[in-house]
Amino acid sequence: MARVLFATPMDAERRAVVARMASGDFEPVILEDLPGKKRDDAWTTADVVVCMGFPREIPVDLREKARMLRLVQALVAGVDHLPFERFPPAAIVCSNAGAYSVSVAEHAMALLLAAAKDIVLRTEEIRRGVFDQGVTNKALAGSTAVILGLGGIGSEIARRCKAFDMRVVGIGRSRTARGAADEIGTMEDLPRYLPEADAVVLALPLTRTTAGIVDRAFLGRMKDEAILVNIARGKLIVEDDLFDHLKTHPRFRAALDTWWTYPDTKQGRPFHSPFQDLPNILMTPHVAPMVPGQRARAMEAALANVIRFLRGEAPHNVVDPSDYAKPGAEQPRGRRIG
Ligand SMILES: NC(=O)c1ccc[n+]([C@@H]2O[C@H](COP(=O)([O-])OP(=O)(O)OC[C@H]3O[C@@H](n4cnc5c(N)ncnc54)[C@H](OP(=O)(O)O)[C@@H]3O)[C@@H](O)[C@H]2O)c1
Repeated sequence: MARVLFATPMDAERRAVVARMASGDFEPVILEDLPGKKRDDAWTTADVVVCMGFPREIPVDLREKARMLRLVQALVAGVDHLPFERFPPAAIVCSNAGAYSVSVAEHAMALLLAAAKDIVLRTEEIRRGVFDQGVTNKALAGSTAVILGLGGIGSEIARRCKAFDMRVVGIGRSRTARGAADEIGTMEDLPRYLPEADAVVLALPLTRTTAGIVDRAFLGRMKDEAILVNIARGKLIVEDDLFDHLKTHPRFRAALDTWWTYPDTKQGRPFHSPFQDLPNILMTPHVAPMVPGQRARAMEAALANVIRFLRGEAPHNVVDPSDYAKPGAEQPRGRRIG
């Protein structure tokens, strides 16, 4: 029977899913349960590895070690941090795209609404004893959201924006109609759509082609009072360009869950420029998927794909490693949960 190696911390929630889904299809091997001297053997005999994909989980000499490895299944949707160069060339790599759609879309809406209504600024005013009823806020109804990446998360965001009576433009790799979006374009259409956007939401993977897509030129095309929401990956945005834009456009809002750098501990800031001094940014510490049941759902989706593969069916979410080639790029060190 195929051996599936779990090379990531396994809490009770994850273990319960593995116990339920393993029956008959594979033999689970949990790396953290093995004594040090048996771990090498576990890598050598694994047919499949399930992991978050952090470099610290993957042996540097995996290529030589993992002679049987046929599939690397990530538990996370975004695989930009995976050390692809360590995987045996014959092994395919699958992301867990789609497994976080609802929780992350919900968080995107929280960021969008909080930015449109300036919830944090108003809260801080009232804390300081200011009760100004003359301030206005933005309406979502009748406004335009441009969503970059209309996959699992982007489609759920589109559905929620429609429930708020917004016009939704989805940007994908093709103009094929899908989901709730009113209009579909590609990156080539952005010069036309960005000036119309009241909100831009990033729901794209971070790849060689999408890194730094939100730069000075992109921001310059947006309305002065628009909102930028990023629940995807920090490095889709050029950090210095966003900082300068927020400083020079006080009516512009950025609402971010994902960052450029990740502190090693629970102390520290996930950026280099002093964003903490700007009033027009909203921030959460990459916690969009941290809702009850999400860890179990992610494991279920990952194992459903592993079982599909082991039964000889085509797996979903196969990654092309060449999309992620990034010579000299800094590897994220901190926690990554989606
Ligand atoms: N904040 C968090 O904790 C968190 C949690 C989960 C995921 N994420 C991030 O969110 C991203 C999306 O996740 P997902 O589950 O929605 O993945 P998904 O279902 O694969 O959706 C990604 C979408 O982006 C599109 N896309 C990719 N490259 C593009 C390009 N160059 N131009 C236009 N569209 C492009 C894809 O188009 P095709 O349909 O043509 O492939 C796909 O529809 C992940 O990659 C991850 O980085 C963040």
